[in-house]
Amino acid sequence: METTTSPMVRFKGVSKRFGGVTAVEKTDLDIEAGTLVTLLGPSGCGKTTLLRMVSGLETPTEGEIYVKGRCINDVPIHQRNLGMIFQNYALFPHKTIFDNVAFGLKYRKIPREEIAEKVTRALEMVRLPGVERRMPVQLSGGQQQRIALARAIVIEPDVLLMDEPLSALDENLREEMRREIDNIQAMLGVTTIFVTHDQREALSMSDKIVVMEKGVKQQEGAPEEVYNRPVNHFVADFLGHSNFSTGRVAGRENGFVRVLLDSGNTLLAESDRDWKDGDPVEVVVRAQRFDAELKSEFTPSHQMNYFEGKIKDRSYMGGEVSYFIELAGKREIHVISMMRSRIYKIGDEVSVQAAPRHCHLLPRE
Ligand SMILES: Nc1ncnc2c1ncn2[C@@H]1O[C@H](COP(=O)(O)OP(=O)(O)OP(=O)(O)O)[C@@H](O)[C@H]1O
Ligand SMILES: [Mg+2]
Repeated sequence: METTTSPMVRFKGVSKRFGGVTAVEKTDLDIEAGTLVTLLGPSGCGKTTLLRMVSGLETPTEGEIYVKGRCINDVPIHQRNLGMIFQNYALFPHKTIFDNVAFGLKYRKIPREEIAEKVTRALEMVRLPGVERRMPVQLSGGQQQRIALARAIVIEPDVLLMDEPLSALDENLREEMRREIDNIQAMLGVTTIFVTHDQREALSMSDKIVVMEKGVKQQEGAPEEVYNRPVNHFVADFLGHSNFSTGRVAGRENGFVRVLLDSGNTLLAESDRDWKDGDPVEVVVRAQRFDAELKSEFTPSHQMNYFEGKIKDRSYMGGEVSYFIELAGKREIHVISMMRSRIYKIGDEVSVQAAPRHCHLLPRE
């Protein structure tokens, strides 16, 4: 589809090699103005490298990066209007908070009074008004990271680049900062590229998630899209707790695809793809999507997607319980159950069922 307005950031066939190591491989990606996009993937998949190429700290080996429709490959760092925040707060330790936040403005030769005004406004934005005279050591880790955020937004950047900005914070503070960044991003409408390897962070904040593995983009889409309709095993495995089983397509039934599993069971799955009989597939079921109940108390509504097994292991996770259930043939499935009135014990015999619409089909790789 052709659009007349170009995206805020466009990667076109971008690769980056460090000697023999390919950090990023032929990546195409559009980031629309005003959106928050997360780059999500395991360590070493190329997230930081992608970000550093936008910032100008690295140069692509091949391909082009466009900001507002203009190729920036040869634009020096200080001429790119970008805000950056990294994992470590990276404030200047011997400068006051004022000077830290004002840093990018002085560089831009903006009049003094205007600088003071902008700094005040940025500090209000991150809810730390009045700390101008303090030194970084006099602030907590979370506060320092807010100052880093103030420093990044004060220059009114075209794009805000954040590389795991929350990873040094403890869990509660992370949650708070996550919401704060989300709010500020929305309020300013600033296009943001946010790097994380934390799926919860990505799912909760993003307009779009880009899942990467080994330098290659695996899938991009809205959080619910990537979570509910992963395109391959890697994405399904990386986001959420998934159960996988292999089998072959064996016809259709009531609008669902019938799969003959290698274990000998038959399963109905929902899929809008045009499968042919005999196609090798992988069935994915999220651990939260199974219903498990004591066998003695369970009356299946239908015999489809119904299994019996025994609790092998369990652990409490606050509001939920995580069970590992052994089915016939020593196959084990992971079931996460919202804590109801009762928690099952190890050894309990249970019935397990998953609705066909919660069984997702992937082509077998
Ligand atoms: N300057 C460099 N020289 C050589 N190899 C590098 C360099 N920078 C990155 N790499 C390699 O490129 C690959 C991608 O690295 P990158 O830092 O982009 O990963 P990442 O997704 O940010 O990982 P993490 O989650 O650990 O931060 C890795 O294999 C890394 O070792
Ligand atoms: Mg990194």
